Amino acid sequence: MGMLEGKVGIVTGGGRGLGRSHALLMASEGASIVVNDLGGAWDGTGSDDRAASETAADIVAIGANAVANFDDVADWEGAQNMINQAVATYGRLDFLVCNAGFVRDRTVFNMSESEWDSVIRVHLKGHFVPTRWATAYWREQFKMHDRPVNASIVYTASEAGLFGNAGQPNYSAAKAGIAALGITVAREVERYGIRVNTINPRARTRMTVNTFGADRMTADEGAFDVNDPDNVSPWVAYLCTDDASDITGETFVCGSDQVQLMQGWKREHRIRKGNDRWTVAELAEARAELFSSRRQKPDR
Ligand SMILES: NC(=O)c1ccc[n+]([C@@H]2O[C@H](COP(=O)([O-])OP(=O)(O)OC[C@H]3O[C@@H](n4cnc5c(N)ncnc54)[C@H](O)[C@@H]3O)[C@@H](O)[C@H]2O)c1
Repeated sequence: MGMLEGKVGIVTGGGRGLGRSHALLMASEGASIVVNDLGGAWDGTGSDDRAASETAADIVAIGANAVANFDDVADWEGAQNMINQAVATYGRLDFLVCNAGFVRDRTVFNMSESEWDSVIRVHLKGHFVPTRWATAYWREQFKMHDRPVNASIVYTASEAGLFGNAGQPNYSAAKAGIAALGITVAREVERYGIRVNTINPRARTRMTVNTFGADRMTADEGAFDVNDPDNVSPWVAYLCTDDASDITGETFVCGSDQVQLMQGWKREHRIRKGNDRWTVAELAEARAELFSSRRQKPDR
């Protein structure tokens, strides 16, 4: 018996890359899957029903349950339709994996308004809108049955968002926003029995091959394929099992043979004047103390 037996979930961007790996693994663990994918090109242009349809057909071929959904994750009605389709088809919803997205890389001084808006929209709004409708559904269930719902949401951020990446200001900002959204939503919905965690994956997909080139991503003959997207999916699937019902508000990096537990911003050092406002000149003096815990002080 699989670890997701009887559960129903949605994987956005499930037609290709990481989403396809997640959907196939979660189905093989017993879940029924709504495979969402708009099916556009690597830069988000166009649409094609084949991406979601093929993953859904491949899941059915292994004897599990899946239906395709072609909605745009960032569309208000589209995302609502996706949640409704899961409930109408399988009678319930237990998990939501937000994964869909695309890149339009450019340095900040060359970036167009549409490159900025489209990437922020698909990632940040594309996480918010499905979450909006899924959490509203689960809150209703909570009220109706008067007990926690035991649901899981997994977000997909990026190390570009955690650490910054030159050439991806739109994408990094969207992904940092997703990481912050995950922590905030986790706090809002814990009382209903909904948990929210964020992964930052590393894998060879058309997105990364396009960014880094195929050569950097291919496996050596006979060696463990560290960049296989299938390496990321087990932790995503685990986060949606009942065994992980105590994990929420966390951020992970996963890929290769690793899962890394991340820790966010923390206060490094504080200077206080003591019940009075600093002057600019005083701060110029005091900055040495502010940065004193750094090995290399940004001091003159
Ligand atoms: N591959 C990596 O190493 C890596 C690293 C960090 C983060 N990520 C993130 O992982 C996620 C998956 O990316 P991937 O690498 O598998 O890329 P991918 O291009 O192979 O897959 C992304 C999928 O999302 C779909 N999609 C795009 N816009 C959509 C929309 N509006 N509605 C519905 N579906 C849409 C695409 O059609 C595609 O099938 C993305 O959020 C990406 O930013 C990937």
